Amino acid sequence: MNVTDHVVFATRVETIQFPDTDRLNAELCDLLDRRPELDDRTHPDALNLLVLAETVPAIARLREMFLRGARHWLQAEGIAGTDGVDLLLFSNRMGPGDSTIAHNHKTDLIGIYYARTTVTDRPPFSAADGTDYFEAGDGVLVLHDPRFNANQTTVCHHDHIKIFPRPGLMLIFPAYVWHSVTSHRGDFHRLSFAMNFTLRWPAGPAQPHSWT
Ligand SMILES: [Fe+2]
Repeated sequence: MNVTDHVVFATRVETIQFPDTDRLNAELCDLLDRRPELDDRTHPDALNLLVLAETVPAIARLREMFLRGARHWLQAEGIAGTDGVDLLLFSNRMGPGDSTIAHNHKTDLIGIYYARTTVTDRPPFSAADGTDYFEAGDGVLVLHDPRFNANQTTVCHHDHIKIFPRPGLMLIFPAYVWHSVTSHRGDFHRLSFAMNFTLRWPAGPAQPHSWT
């Protein structure tokens, strides 16, 4: 008898803790505190914060950090040959009691960067030790298992992971992963940024088609 186990359809979630981000985070928080209208919740496409990259150095630096993260994710996944990437940057400024319901993004990859969060001494990534799904915590990012209805089978015991944010932490993961944020309990505005990465691919041969 020859038994082989295969773990298939894994989902790559990258965490990067950037060093020396105190000044950057302070500048990003100051920007959104002075101009809260930049945190446009009507629709993520409503305002691309990258329009500020030429005039706000902190936004330009954040863009470079996101690009480093995305390059690393693509390299680790063995994806090459893209023609470039379209970028959409937006913020999530949460007041006391705010939360974000489960959602995903219409793009290829998502990046998240935390500028101001509740301080925690928990490791940022919870998958190894397991967590109670219904324990709300404080501004915890929950990544939901992207396998369809994975939580509805009794043979699945890892149907979510929790990320315990901290300033300077970045995540990169596929955009199909549903995610939510539990209530922010601090008496300050929690601030994170999200980047949508939409990959561009070289154009293939034209295939004109007429409907007539
Ligand atoms: Fe999101």
